[in-house]
Amino acid sequence: MTLLVAVTGWDPSTWIGELVKLLPGRKIVTPERLKDRAAVRYALTWKHAPGALGHLPNLAAIFSLGAGVDHVLADPHLPPAPIVRVVDPDLTQRMSEWVVLQTLLHFRQFRRYDLQQRERVWAEDEQQPSARDVRVGVLGLGVLGLDASAKLKAIGFDVAGWSRTQKHVAGLTTFHGADGLTALLARTDILVSLLPLTRETRGLLDRRLIAGLARDGRLGPFLINAGRGGSQVEADVLEALNSGALNGASLDVFDSEPLPKDSALWDAPNLYISPHNAAISEPQAVAAYIANAILAFERGEPLVNLVDRARGY
Ligand code: NDP
Ligand code: OXD
Repeated sequence: MTLLVAVTGWDPSTWIGELVKLLPGRKIVTPERLKDRAAVRYALTWKHAPGALGHLPNLAAIFSLGAGVDHVLADPHLPPAPIVRVVDPDLTQRMSEWVVLQTLLHFRQFRRYDLQQRERVWAEDEQQPSARDVRVGVLGLGVLGLDASAKLKAIGFDVAGWSRTQKHVAGLTTFHGADGLTALLARTDILVSLLPLTRETRGLLDRRLIAGLARDGRLGPFLINAGRGGSQVEADVLEALNSGALNGASLDVFDSEPLPKDSALWDAPNLYISPHNAAISEPQAVAAYIANAILAFERGEPLVNLVDRARGY
C-alpha cells in the first residue's frame, strides 16, 4: 500500500522522513519514483503538478498538507477521491499569533514608533484608544477565524465575524451573507480576512469593500489578510494605502508568490508583508495528523475534515 507525496515548493523528503516513522512498512514515494500506480491508496499534496494524481485506480483519499485546498481543487484532472484538509491545533495557534500580532502592530502604531526610534524622536500619541474602542471584523468563522476571534476578544477588542452561513457564537457578534458583509464592514476599524479562496471569495477584498469600512473609529481602517492572495485585488489595496483610504495593512498571501521583486506593494506605506508563513504546516504535527487519519480510516472510522468540492473549501 503506497502513499504518494506530490509537493512543489517543499522538500518532500522532510514529509517522507516523518511519515516513515509513523507508518512503518508502507511505501512512501514521490511522483518521479512511482512505478506501480495501482498500489497508491493515499495521496498527500501541496500544489502538486496538475495531473500528478491522475490514473490512481485505488486511491482512497487525498490529503492536503495545508488547511487551504484551492491548490488541490485547481487541478482539472483531480481524481474523485475524498479530500481531507489540515485541522491542527499547532497550525491554528500559529495563525492566531500572526493575526493578534498584526492587529496589535496597527493598533499600537508600531511602524510610527519604529520610524521615530530610528530618527531618535521621542513623541507619543496622546490619543491612543483602548482595545475596547477598536472594532475588529473577522471574515471567515471557520477553524482559524473562530480561534483568532476568541484571542482578539481576550485582549479586549470589540470583535465581530462574518461567514457564509449563519453562526451563533457565544460572546461574538456575527453576520453572514452579502447584507451581513455590508453591516460588518460598517462597524469595522481593523478587517482580518481568513477566508478560503473560492469562486465567491476571489477578488472580494477590493476597492468597494475598502470603501465600506468604518471611518468613524478612533483609528483605521486597516486590512489584514492571511486567507489567500486571490481574495484581494492588489492594485486596489495599493491605491487605498497610497490615498489613505486604508491607514495600513498586513498581507501574508499574494496573487503571485513569491511576491515579485518589482511589485509596488514592497514600498506601500504602512504595509507589513510576510512570506505566506502566518501559519506553516509543521511537518511533525501534520504528518502525525495524517498518519492518525489513515490508521483510523483503516480501522473503519470515517474520514474527518473533508472538503466540499462544490463549496470549494
Ligand atoms: P474553514 O473551512 O474552517 O473556514 C472557512 C470559513 O470561511 C467558514 O466560516 C466559511 O463560512 C467562510 N466562508 C467561505 N466562503 C465564504 C463566503 N463566500 N462568504 C462568507 N464566508 C465564507 O477554514 P480555516 O479556517 O481552517 O482556513 C481558512 C483559510 O485560511 C484556508 O482556506 C486557507 O486559505 C487560509 N490559510 C492560510 C494560511 C497562511 O499561512 N497564510 C495557513 C492556513 C490556512 P461557513 O462557516 O458558513 O462555512
Ligand atoms: C495552508 C497554508 O493552507 O499554509 O495551510 O496556506
